[in-house]
Amino acid sequence: MSVLYVHAGDDSATYRALFARELPEVPCVAFPEPAPTDATTFVACWNPPPGFFAPLVALRAVFALGAGVDRLLARADLPSAVPIVRLLDAGMADQMVEYALLGVLMRQRQVVEYRVQQAGSEWRRHPSLARADLRVGVLGLGEMGGAVARALARFGYAVAGWSRSPKAIDGVAVHHGDPALEGVLARSDVLVNTLPSTPATRGLLDAARLARLPRDAFVVNASRGDQLDADALRRLLDDGHLSGALLDVFAVEPLPPDDPLWRHPKVTITPHVAATTLPQPSVRQVADGIRRMLRGEAAAGRVDRSRGY
Ligand code: NAP
Ligand code: GLV
Repeated sequence: MSVLYVHAGDDSATYRALFARELPEVPCVAFPEPAPTDATTFVACWNPPPGFFAPLVALRAVFALGAGVDRLLARADLPSAVPIVRLLDAGMADQMVEYALLGVLMRQRQVVEYRVQQAGSEWRRHPSLARADLRVGVLGLGEMGGAVARALARFGYAVAGWSRSPKAIDGVAVHHGDPALEGVLARSDVLVNTLPSTPATRGLLDAARLARLPRDAFVVNASRGDQLDADALRRLLDDGHLSGALLDVFAVEPLPPDDPLWRHPKVTITPHVAATTLPQPSVRQVADGIRRMLRGEAAAGRVDRSRGY
């Protein structure tokens, strides 16, 4: 018998009810009920506690209730032979487009500058910027970044994108591979990071690469905090090279109360909400993946452990 065990923190009961409706043929048990360790073949989860997977001896696959799997891949209690399947969009890409657009508009409409002026009751206009003159660079062109690049290009911004492998996206100047990164950075008035956190991308946005951004560039980090050197970012904001940042993700979450980013006048912080997991479409996608596996087929969204995403 196959049992699905769900750990979605405080939302576990909601997910169990949805799975019972979408996948009635597979019994579902949800945290905080104990997992039936010998019968649990599938898990759907987001950051369960350490040791969670160790007793699950019949595990066939783990379905991440999110797009990023860096935390799951780093776990010592999850055998590397167990496939990890992640969410493909499932309603997150539209949210990511909104978040990126927010950052782009903050730069285009000089929101940070006017907010600083407002603090000093200063009425001073800056020249306006046309969409076509604002160069946006999107790092990562997968489910999230691909949607962001496509939408911003349709909206009229001058968009370039960067991925590992070659791609074609209408209206977007697409680059790929390590040597192309510097050029993308150098032409990004707004940089939107949607890269997965992998051994190749952790620490990627270091002091030297952030300094490659043009003067007055604006940084949007909506992917993972470990890819961006936050101290270097602050220094570049302080010395006027960068104009602002919209940050959703941090190396340590929640961002500690004494972190200077909280009080930086050019930084806007959101608590890892750029694109949240939507229960209904996510449960449908996981249910489809489980059904496929039960038929002996591969589930869509299987993570390639060697790439780290
Ligand atoms: P995805 O579909 O796997 O796309 C990843 C993209 O990054 C692909 O285009 C990939 O290139 C590119 N990439 C990976 N490693 C690279 C490298 N070393 N150099 C250049 N490009 C590289 O992932 P996704 O669904 O878009 O999600 C991306 C990330 O967004 C997640 O991992 C997660 O960290 C983050 N996220 C955050 C939130 C939030 O609320 N803050 C919500 C959802 C997702 P190829 O196309 O060539 O493979
Ligand atoms: C959220 O950060 C996700 O990876 O889905």
